[in-house]
Amino acid sequence: MEKFIVMGRTRLEGTVRIGGSKNAVLPIMAASLLTSKNSTIFDVPHLTDVLTMKKVLEHLGARVNFTSEVLEVDTSGVNRHEVAESLTRQMRASNLVMGPLLGRFHRVRVSHPGGCDIGSRPMDLHLKGFQSMGAAIHERYGFIEVEANDLHGAEIHLDFPSVGATENLMMAAVLAKGQTVIRNAAKEPEIVDLQNFLNGLGAKVKGAGLDVIRVEGVTSLNSVEYTIIPDRIEAGTYMTAGAITGGDILITNVIPEHLEPISAKLRETGVTVTEYPDSVRVQCAGRARAVDFKTMPYPGFPTDMQPQVMALMATADGTTVIAETIFDNRFKHVDELRRMGANIKVEGRAAIIKGVPRLSGAFVEATDLRAGAALVLAGLAAEDATIIENIYHIDRGYAQLDGKLNGLGARIMRVNNHR
Ligand code: EPZ
Repeated sequence: MEKFIVMGRTRLEGTVRIGGSKNAVLPIMAASLLTSKNSTIFDVPHLTDVLTMKKVLEHLGARVNFTSEVLEVDTSGVNRHEVAESLTRQMRASNLVMGPLLGRFHRVRVSHPGGCDIGSRPMDLHLKGFQSMGAAIHERYGFIEVEANDLHGAEIHLDFPSVGATENLMMAAVLAKGQTVIRNAAKEPEIVDLQNFLNGLGAKVKGAGLDVIRVEGVTSLNSVEYTIIPDRIEAGTYMTAGAITGGDILITNVIPEHLEPISAKLRETGVTVTEYPDSVRVQCAGRARAVDFKTMPYPGFPTDMQPQVMALMATADGTTVIAETIFDNRFKHVDELRRMGANIKVEGRAAIIKGVPRLSGAFVEATDLRAGAALVLAGLAAEDATIIENIYHIDRGYAQLDGKLNGLGARIMRVNNHR
């Protein structure tokens, strides 16, 4: 298994380019199943989650070619409606093929996603939405089977603005008969990207980014060429790396508006964030100030940035209270940060962090991709070296995190321990 050795007391300087968004490309790859024509997708990052979704599509009968950030998907040969259980276990987002397969073939079978490293991940909102569109749901032997003789539009009100449920229902609605209205929809930028991709196929979707999304069912779709938006969470991770190391970095290929909740919070801590048309500059002289924050659906502060900013707060001047309102168990990185000398107490969905002047290097392990990224950031600022195990989590959502940080002056080695 590979691990990182991160040398501490680093100050990052220079320029880093952000890649395409993982959480945009995964639903868009799934959406390519809706058409029997080709889809070509540009700016696709080389992530293991993208390779897993490629395997999901190929297992269903699609032909997928992925070279130098371009994905070509040919779904003319798709002849199965069951997602391989091993792939669903590897990546919950495999279930994003449910909406497209239900829309195109009126049936789909997936294994229950089960829990994961950040909490229980039920799919009740997805399934309730499918039912309102005329589908029958059978949950047995650890599998979920969904089939619909007649898939029709529906008025759906989501109890919670779930990103995945919004995406699955948008995709199921594209080929359904009549209009589907999704209320209390998730408003993340990745939802807007999916809408633009679907409309590129010839779908009729509008309202993404707002509370209500309307889909007019169509009877056929064509092929499309599409470029993915930049990854706002990858960008936020590098912004926080600049802050925690007291550095000065320019982050290019970003959409500053998508970073607003992150930029605003970093500015509160005393970090200087300067916005340009497609880049941001982050400068931080001295220690960040402790500020409280609460994770919320977009445009609130993103839960996918909670571990990274917690690492910054672990060395901030003062006490921080973090409320994690999205997931019920997204504090597994706390124990690892404590091993590095952080002073953190967890009370349910709240974490109280008393900033310490400096963390110390330690043996730690990544428990999920954002927690792993947070440990890299903590290691950059800590004394001595930090050894991070299970970095396969990090490779799921970050293309060359080590290489890109080393390009900014970090000293991170990726080593293979043969056990
Ligand atoms: C997406 O996950 C992202 N993944 C996650 O990013 C992100 O953390 C999350 O949205 C929230 O922004 C992808 O886009 C591939 P949700 P998703 O449905 O769709 C509960 C990362 O680090 N819920 O909005 O699974 C659920 O349990 C990953 O890149 C239900 O109760 O998130 C959770 O507590 C991690 N019932 C909350 O809603 C449902 O039917 C948010 O889940 C669905 C969700």
